[in-house]
Amino acid sequence: MNILHISFECYPIAKVGGLADVVSALPKYQNTHTTDTSVIIPFYKNEFTKGAIYESVHKSTVFMRDTDYSYSVEKVNSPDLGFTTYLVYVEGLLDRPNVYNYEDDAERSIIFQLVVLDWLNTKAGIPDIIHCHDHHTGLIPFLMAHGDPYTQLRDIPTVLTIHNAQYQGKLSYDKLGCLPSFDKNKIGLLDWDQLINPLASAIKCASRVTAVSKSYMLELQERANGLEGLLRQEKDKCVGILNGIDLDTWNTETDPMVIQNYKISNVVSGRKENKKWLCDNFGFDINKPLFGFIGRLVGEKGADLLPEIVQEAYDVNHIDASLLILGSGNKDTEERLTLLKEKYSGLYNTFIGYDEKLSHIVYAGADFLLMPSRVEPCGLNQMYALRYGSIPIVRRTGGLRDTVIDIGDNGFGICHDQASVWDVCYSMKRAVSLYEDQGKYREIQKQIMEIDHSWERSAKEYKRIYELLIPN
Ligand code: ADP
Ligand code: GLC
Repeated sequence: MNILHISFECYPIAKVGGLADVVSALPKYQNTHTTDTSVIIPFYKNEFTKGAIYESVHKSTVFMRDTDYSYSVEKVNSPDLGFTTYLVYVEGLLDRPNVYNYEDDAERSIIFQLVVLDWLNTKAGIPDIIHCHDHHTGLIPFLMAHGDPYTQLRDIPTVLTIHNAQYQGKLSYDKLGCLPSFDKNKIGLLDWDQLINPLASAIKCASRVTAVSKSYMLELQERANGLEGLLRQEKDKCVGILNGIDLDTWNTETDPMVIQNYKISNVVSGRKENKKWLCDNFGFDINKPLFGFIGRLVGEKGADLLPEIVQEAYDVNHIDASLLILGSGNKDTEERLTLLKEKYSGLYNTFIGYDEKLSHIVYAGADFLLMPSRVEPCGLNQMYALRYGSIPIVRRTGGLRDTVIDIGDNGFGICHDQASVWDVCYSMKRAVSLYEDQGKYREIQKQIMEIDHSWERSAKEYKRIYELLIPN
């Protein structure tokens, strides 16, 4: 079985969030299980591509709007990745350092999709399944079925995985001129609410739709940023499949990014070294419990609550613990978090930015990880935290609901129902009490490190879907 994953991110080539982690771990896992899996993403001018060796496997041109763009498909020579990776290079559009946040992101995602389709349309040995991830690849199922140039691709089944339905890639109709000619009777398949909506189009046109946890798939039928009606309508082809984590990368015994490696038998001393490093570098007292937060500073993650949480935790609840926040995103939140550093110095600190190494040390050194998410399709942080022995404190939503059970329900985490300052502070107080009972804390820590979050089960579910779609 030959699978092609199409995405805008893939770790370690280009990562903004969990999408990248999934689009490297799932293909790697699939490749060890009788599937021949590859990944195609845009080319980025970054540290990874600077050091990589490529082979151009295809060069041609695609026409977008009124211009012919030359492109190349570069195969990355990197056996360590565990799957074949292709990068789409288009001078001026797909040759930038960052993944998102350019004014012409619409054109960048359209040209990426046009190149992938053009390449596949001429390629010998086309995939058995095209697996698209999120809205940046959402026009592909429609164009494969109804785009005039892509006659070769008509019968290939497509799977769409929704990692985040908040972002839909909506385009005004003046972008229609960027698309190749297609069957105009089918234009409704591109539309949602009088806009071209790539995510909606993929939900309509893909052979199967998955979301990254069972609870999130159910929630989407109630709240999906305007697409809930569509998801209810299409529910028979939709299924929630929980993400796994890459146990090669996220392995406490071998992780090269942490200060001290450890395993369950020496978890206390190993994690202590990581906590010590964090306390030394961020000015905390190692004897107090340490809370961490890692993530994009956006409303979905409840990040706008963080500044108030800091103040309420210390001024009102007098919580005797330290808090380290690692993240970047909303500028106002970044500034508010930075301003609080001085007032709460010794108890609270923040690193505004993206730092992969620091994130690993936080999982390995913080005693608890906060995730007050309003929306969390799956969430990988809580799974990394569990694996590394840091107890997650989560709001019951999406994948957090599916992966963390409260200690009060014979579980191993701390859960709350509202994304509110009050709920988070109350959970922090429960955490401090748990920490004071070191016997219980250590028992839970060992328990969480043994939970199986490998891709084994989920990859089987994907395989079942692929098998149903491939004609015998
Ligand atoms: P999302 O994809 O919505 O951002 P996930 O929980 O699925 O959320 O994945 C987030 C990933 O990004 C995790 O690997 C997390 O460690 C990482 N991450 C997020 N923000 C940062 C940051 N500022 N520095 C380092 N890693 C980060
Ligand atoms: C998205 C979601 C996150 C999920 C990740 C990987 O970015 O916000 O919850 O874990 O995709 O599927």
